[in-house]
Amino acid sequence: MKIKILLLMMLFFPFGKAFSQQVAIIPQPAKLQIKAGQFTLDEGCLLQTEGKHQDLARIAGFFNDFLQKNYGFQLKNSGKGKVVVLKLAKLPALGNEGYQLSVDANKITVAAHAPAGIFYGIQTLKQLLPADASSAPLTIPAVEIEDQPRFSWRGNMLDVGRHFFPISFLKEYIDILASYKLNIFHWHLTEDQGWRIEIKKYPKLTEISHWRDETVVGHAGRSKEFDGRGYGGFYTQEQIRDLVKYAAERYITIVPEIEMPGHSSAALAAYPNLGCTEGPYKVQPIWGVHSDVYCAGKEETFDFLQNVLDEVLELFPSEFIHIGGDECPKEAWKKCPSCQKRIKEQGLQDEHELQSYFITRIDKYLTQKKRRLIGWDEILEGGLAPGATVMSWRGTEGGIKAAKERHDVVMTPTSHLYFDYYQSADTKNEPLAIGGLLPLEKVYSYEPVPEVLTAEESKHILGAQANLWTEYIPSTKQAEYMLLPRISALAELVWTPKEKKDFADFEKRVIVDYQRLQKQGIHYRDHRK
Ligand code: ACM
Ligand code: ZN
Repeated sequence: MKIKILLLMMLFFPFGKAFSQQVAIIPQPAKLQIKAGQFTLDEGCLLQTEGKHQDLARIAGFFNDFLQKNYGFQLKNSGKGKVVVLKLAKLPALGNEGYQLSVDANKITVAAHAPAGIFYGIQTLKQLLPADASSAPLTIPAVEIEDQPRFSWRGNMLDVGRHFFPISFLKEYIDILASYKLNIFHWHLTEDQGWRIEIKKYPKLTEISHWRDETVVGHAGRSKEFDGRGYGGFYTQEQIRDLVKYAAERYITIVPEIEMPGHSSAALAAYPNLGCTEGPYKVQPIWGVHSDVYCAGKEETFDFLQNVLDEVLELFPSEFIHIGGDECPKEAWKKCPSCQKRIKEQGLQDEHELQSYFITRIDKYLTQKKRRLIGWDEILEGGLAPGATVMSWRGTEGGIKAAKERHDVVMTPTSHLYFDYYQSADTKNEPLAIGGLLPLEKVYSYEPVPEVLTAEESKHILGAQANLWTEYIPSTKQAEYMLLPRISALAELVWTPKEKKDFADFEKRVIVDYQRLQKQGIHYRDHRK
């Protein structure tokens, strides 16, 4: 009897320990095989690279930085010892983001066709180390992994217009996104309540438009109270260049968003000639949809926006440029002689077609500059511009319509991917939020490809992203709390093969992930509470 128990323990203990404590990878890899045995990592191990690419040394450096910060040592690249090797090889079937990770008792190999794959292999390797830093020695379970993403657009949007977040925080934020293998940071840079990007040709944007005199206190739908305190901030072009580079080194593309024709009160406050009535306009102290929008009849509006975009294109190498397009009230256009003249001259039916004219002009401009326009799903109204990609937020109908018209689509419906919504129905015990209810499991349940699409139409679904609007998120702490762990669920639904999704299993891995977040001092909302 005793021998039987002992045998059973010997059989199951190493696996049990490894499985429950260490193999908690998010997002779940496409193929994962856990084997017997383990690699023990210590400072006698070597970290080497194979293959010619300048990125390899940098990625190795990231891994060493991680080891230093979390475990207090680094690996050397020469000498005698067991090896961790990062290897670029001809593995075209893995694509540019896929990787193989092989761990046995003597060697760890991360192999990929391209540097991004090596970077993602390292993110996985980091998650194979013990989540609990105090456990020495550092064992890594023996595994064979072959992994690549399901979608090419794995994104998150952060609104820095409503509340401003410093570059130092944005770097931490990008690190978080990269650790879950996301590759798009959509940076919402202009709003009614603040313009955040320096544009050299229009200095008043960073003298006037970045600053509001006060901010509504409490929920804008219920409050008439203001705090009486000025609030502002903007990013210089030098800071932006630095962040773009920082993100690119982590294989994240920053997609900038310059809102038009709506959500433009802040720009109009500085340049009232661009509005239908010429103002005066003000940087808004209250959240919501405002009726002050760019005039679609005046040529100077397009001159301004094209000049702004010229500087934006210099700063951001991203193929996609987001131009907003959402929530543009049409009252001002209805009353404006210039807008009405434009409608007549262009033979347009109504103000919706005027919005389409507006977006189509900007689409032509971007296309001619070899970039692609992306906008919120309202850009479908009045007819979609020929080159436009649609970001479907008011449900999935906009995305479905666009995909059927053979336009590319990014899914981000409010119902499943708006991270400004409450995480629990017990709202009294949560920080004030805009409303809604979006617990972790609901995020996880989202499937980006609508069933109604044919296989051909489905190819137009580039992926999905979660949005963090910040009306009710004044601090970095709260931004992390709203982001995590929900962003890890988003990561799994855009990376992991659909048939491998399993919430019960994900939940076990998320609980291990909480230890990692704690260790790094990152805030999150424990979904079990
Ligand atoms: C949006 O949430 N207004 C795109
Ligand atoms: Zn007008």
